[in-house]
Parts: sequence; C-alpha cells; structure tokens
Amino acid sequence: MEQIVRRLRKTCAKTRKGLSRKLGMSLRLVASGAYRTVYSISDKPLVIKIPHCRGALAHARQEHKMIKRLKRRVPELMPEVLHFNHKTGVALHRKYSRVGVTSRHSDKAEQILRSKKLPYGDMHYGNVALDGAVVKVIDLGCFRP
Ligand SMILES: Nc1ncnc2c1ncn2[C@@H]1O[C@H](COP(=O)(O)OP(=O)(O)O)[C@@H](O)[C@H]1O
Ligand SMILES: [Mg+2]
Repeated sequence: MEQIVRRLRKTCAKTRKGLSRKLGMSLRLVASGAYRTVYSISDKPLVIKIPHCRGALAHARQEHKMIKRLKRRVPELMPEVLHFNHKTGVALHRKYSRVGVTSRHSDKAEQILRSKKLPYGDMHYGNVALDGAVVKVIDLGCFRP
C-alpha cells in the first residue's frame, strides 16, 4: 500500500496505461461515471479514479476539498483517501462494496448530511458504497457548499 502511494506521489501519469506502468501493477476496470473511470489495482482493496473528460479535474478537486472538510463532521460517511494529485485529479481511495447498494443507502446518507446542515449533491445509489454495514459516500464531486 505505501509503495503504491509512494509511486503515485512521483508521477503525473493520468491514463490507465501510464499509471499501470508506473505502478508496475495491472489496473482492472471497476466502473465508469460521468467524470471518472475507476479501476482496482491488482488484488488490493483500493481504487484509482482517473478523470476522463472536460470538467473532471474540477470535479475531482471539489471532491477532495469536500472530503477534507466533511471528514471532521461526518467521518463515518467519508471514504478513505490515500492519495490525491491536485494537478491531474487522479485519486487513490479505499475500495468499498457496491453489493446490495440501493437508493435507501444514498437516501440515508443524504438525510444525515441534511440533518447536520452540511453540503451534499448528486446523491444516488451509484455514488454510495458499503464498508460492512456503514454507508460511504464515494463521489462528492457535485457537493456544493
Ligand atoms: N471507492 C470506491 N469503491 C468501489 N467502487 C467505487 C469507488 N469509487 C467509485 N466506484 C465505482 O465507480 C463508479 C464511478 O465513480 P464516481 O466516483 O461516481 O465517478 P464520477 O465522478 O464520474 O461520477 C461508481 O458508481 C462506483 O461504481
Ligand atoms: Mg458518480
């Protein structure tokens, strides 16, 4: 894990091929959203999130800012961030389970954020995942203060 972070710190690669080469590990497609393509790193419990379109860099930076801010208020809802490259928007996060995730989970996360008068945005089931029974928001790019 530390080796992956160390290697990512040293590179500004922003393609699957370039990052795979730098890491010396295979990247397997997990899913793709409107802004980013998400890969898992060999057999590690990690995902690498790569911006793939215009606006995606701003989206990734907004997410990073929001995670840092909300980590203090709702730590249990936030994903674990292991690395973020401000220049490329490439992020390394812990991988969470999407098995059995429904809109009930995103509604629950939204309700927690609303009740604390915290920002939220684009809360649908594709943007949440599970750490055991704990709901994690895995996409905060559309959170607005
Ligand atoms: N931390 C994660 N763990 C597991 N799957 C993830 C994680 N982050 C993203 N994904 C998967 O990748 C998809 C796209 O990621 P997302 O961050 O929503 O991208 P976008 O910003 O393009 O919407 C998600 O819907 C989910 O299926
Ligand atoms: Mg998304």
